[in-house]
Amino acid sequence: MSGHEFQSFFPESGSIDYADTASSITDATVEEMRQIAARYPEPRSALLPMLHLVQSVDGRISPRGIEVCADVLGITTAQVAGVATFYTMYVRKPGGKHHVGVCTTALCAVMGGDILLDEVSEKLGVGEGETTPDGMFTLERIECNAACDYAPVMMVDWEFMDNMDPVKASAMIDDLAAGRPVQSTRGPVLTGWRNTERLLAGFPDGRADEGPSAGPASLLGLQIAEERGWQAPTPGEIAAPVKEENQ
Ligand code: FES
Repeated sequence: MSGHEFQSFFPESGSIDYADTASSITDATVEEMRQIAARYPEPRSALLPMLHLVQSVDGRISPRGIEVCADVLGITTAQVAGVATFYTMYVRKPGGKHHVGVCTTALCAVMGGDILLDEVSEKLGVGEGETTPDGMFTLERIECNAACDYAPVMMVDWEFMDNMDPVKASAMIDDLAAGRPVQSTRGPVLTGWRNTERLLAGFPDGRADEGPSAGPASLLGLQIAEERGWQAPTPGEIAAPVKEENQ
């Protein structure tokens, strides 16, 4: 041993909690899993959305959820568990009504992401990976969500909350805690993490057009290109110079 211990950046990454057998999965859930599997030429491709459906029903990746996914797809429970424990969007223990993610990757960090995380943590009274005692909020440090043009960014129930700061974050948390409507800056009114998980499983709630899908900062490059008549090169135009170089 070198004396150096590997320390996981994700404190709760680990195995499924097989001791917690609680599950709300019903025959209707299994039927929905079969519907998801039928969408793919190779049913096994449906595993990721099926796991999101498990989370929408059980609030985590439950042992029962793993069994049912394996059964529907004709694969082993070990194969399902291997996938479920690889991705950080799949959780091993029940969380709060709202999932609050604070991005601390490079650009958000430069713009104050770490300070924002500290402030939100203090406001909620919980650390990373923890849930408030009232079951309302789970806090997580998250990686870049490709929203760097609006840094620092928070993701609440995986909807964008752009250009955040501690004051805005505090007000947003107060509103959510009081049950007042909070709208994502580029999405719909937040209705809870489980509802988002159902969306990620591929069951639309009809609210996709409720908020703006793109903001001015994201569209600036497109606007400049249109003003100057720029277009992306065709595959042929890209290949031609390379061919000449090789001759
Ligand atoms: S670095 Fe935070 S969204 Fe990209």
